[in-house]
This record gives sequence, C-alpha cells and structure tokens, in this order.
Amino acid sequence: MPSAPRYFIAILAIVISGHYILSFTNGTYGRATSISRLMNGHKSQNVPQEYYPALNTPLELSHRPNANATFVILARNSDLDNTVRSVREVEDRFNVRHHYPFVILNDEPFTDEFKRRVSAVASGPVSYGEVPTEHWVQPEWIDEERATKGRDQLVAENVIYGGSVSYRNMCRFNSGFFFKHPLVQNYRWYWRIEPDVHFHCDVNFDPFLYMQDRNKVYGFTITMYEFDKTIPTLWGHVKDFMKLHPEHIAKDNALGFMSDDGGETYNRCHFWSNFEIADMSFWRSKAYQDFFAYLDSKGGFYYERWGDAPVHSIAAGIFASKDQLQFFEEIGYEHNPYTHCPKDPGMWERGRCGCDPARSFDYDGYSCMRQWDAFMGLA
Ligand SMILES: *[C@@H]1O[C@H](CO)[C@@H](O)[C@H](O)[C@H]1NC(C)=O
Repeated sequence: MPSAPRYFIAILAIVISGHYILSFTNGTYGRATSISRLMNGHKSQNVPQEYYPALNTPLELSHRPNANATFVILARNSDLDNTVRSVREVEDRFNVRHHYPFVILNDEPFTDEFKRRVSAVASGPVSYGEVPTEHWVQPEWIDEERATKGRDQLVAENVIYGGSVSYRNMCRFNSGFFFKHPLVQNYRWYWRIEPDVHFHCDVNFDPFLYMQDRNKVYGFTITMYEFDKTIPTLWGHVKDFMKLHPEHIAKDNALGFMSDDGGETYNRCHFWSNFEIADMSFWRSKAYQDFFAYLDSKGGFYYERWGDAPVHSIAAGIFASKDQLQFFEEIGYEHNPYTHCPKDPGMWERGRCGCDPARSFDYDGYSCMRQWDAFMGLA
C-alpha cells in the first residue's frame, strides 16, 4: 500500500477509536448522553424536560437584560459571618454572571461592619433596611394571655421555636409584609436567601427569566411535612376562607398536592420557604392580601406558631395553577439539616455540583417529593 492512504487509514482509526473512548467515558454519567436523551424526548428517571431549564438556555449566553428582581435576606447583626457565606456562595454559583441586587433587612439597624463585609462579597448593589415596627411586633389586639398559653404549650411539647415570640414575628413578617418594604417594593421577583445556606451547583441559567417567560409564580427546591402542633387550626381557617372567597381559587390549582381527601384535611405538605424564587405580584394580589388579612385576624401566628412556609405554600396551592409552581431540580441547595442535590447525573455534572446525590432529601421519608411527583403525574 502506498504510504499516503495507509497514513489516512491510521488517522481514521484513531478518530473512530477516539469517538468510542469519548462515548464510553461519557457513559451514563456523560453530558452528551444525558443531553441527547433529553433531545430525543426521553424522560430520565421520570423527570420531564420542563425540569431542565439550563438546557433551554445553555450557560445563559444570550445576554438578555436582567429581570426586575432582587435577592432578599432577613438577617441580624449576629448573623454576619453566615450572611457573608450565603452571599458568597450565591455569587460564585450564579450572581457573578448577573449582578442582581440584594436587599438585606433587619429588625434593628445594621452595623457598619456588617455592611462593609457583605458589600465586599456581593457583585450587585446591596441595600440595607430596617423592618418597620408595625410589620414586626406582635399586634396590640393579640390576647397576650392566650398567646402565652399557646407558647407554653408548644414548649411543653418540645416544638422547635415553641416559646419564641421573635420567631413568630419573623414568620408573620415573611408571610404578610416583606414584599411591602420600601426597598423591596421596587421589584417584582425575589430570591429568598437566609444566613448559612449553601448552593451546591452552578446555576447556569437565570431562574427569574425562566419563571417570567413561563408565567411561573412560585419556585422551590425542598418540600416536606409541617409539624402538626404548630398549625392545629390553620386548615380549618383555610377552608372557611375558600368558602368565603371562591372567586380567588385558581382553576387547575395544586390543592391535590396538599390534601389527600379532596380538601377536607391538610396532609401538611409545604414548600420549605427558606428558599423561594417567586413573583411578588402574587403576594401583592387581592387574593393573597385577602387571605393573609383573614389568617392574621385569627391570631394563629401568635396563638399557635404558623410558619410562613405553610402560609405561602397553601396560598400558592390555591391561588395559582399547578403549572405555575416550579420545582428547581438543578439548583443544589442546603439549609441545615436538609440538602437538595440533583439526582440526574448529567445535570449534576453540568452544574459542577459539590453535593452527594445519594444524600439528597428528595425521597427521604419526611419529604413530600413523592406526593409532588404523583400529583404532577411524574411518578
Ligand atoms: C419592577 O417592579 C416593580 C413592582 O412591580 C414596579 O413598581 C417597577 O416599576 C418595576 N421596575 C421596572 C424597571 O420595570
């Protein structure tokens, strides 16, 4: 054989074997495999394409203008180190490419040291605000004797934060007031962050734009059961409200995720609200304003210990349609003691996730992800 064709064949052989080596090393864990699986319309582990926004806008190279959005953090001066850590992580994993602003709120003034250190790690503008007293303290009309009895009972039952008034103030503020703060009012979308949370994967897309483009209202990463002792009368009031205001109930809502008996009882499933990406025009709507005012008038934020998580979740479940709720599978997130880590190997690799998928909370016994899958028709 003349030398040129032999050379050509040798090259060809190298190219072909190279291709095999590549596809072999990609294997089930490879990017190419999982992308092509999705492109072919196959579902991986029964997770639909809708769960992979990163694929629709790879690495968000489209240079679209930012959404009308901000991060919102409620923190005390004593949370300084943990706030710096949370901001630093969300910067490294996402915001360094977007420079969204931060609004950080406190029930007292921030120290100069706090502002200096948080601003040093943020790539977007940071505003520091105080929560107005009337949005924070226990209202005058609450019967203090009854509230004390309620707290004592939860302490006796060993319920976490059972005796804390400031925790209750915070839950009521997060339920009904944060989106009315003058610094927050300038924005439509928010991403809630708390001190000492962790972001385990690169977020290679813009979740705000993702939600805006798809008319989404509420995004979450972890869903679980609420402690029944903190909300003994909540669902009764929710049912009364629905009877009073049928006009607010969305068609095709997600009530079926929260009740296993057609709305009679609450199965206690809720979205863990320390992470939220949501549309504040939903909280500012007449439906939610009526709902919050109604619940607040019952005093359960103080007589019991209603959390903003069940209050937000139930509202999202009733006043939004189920396809307006978004499970952000690809956002690896941790708030002690629970972690959400993407299970899909391609997604995990694309996100350069630092978490262990085997330890993801998703299908833990205390998680409501199974109910979510079943309700959304994914199980
Ligand atoms: C952002 O949203 C807020 C609240 O809906 C609105 O008041 C403001 O005008 C919006 N800003 C822009 C630039 O669209």
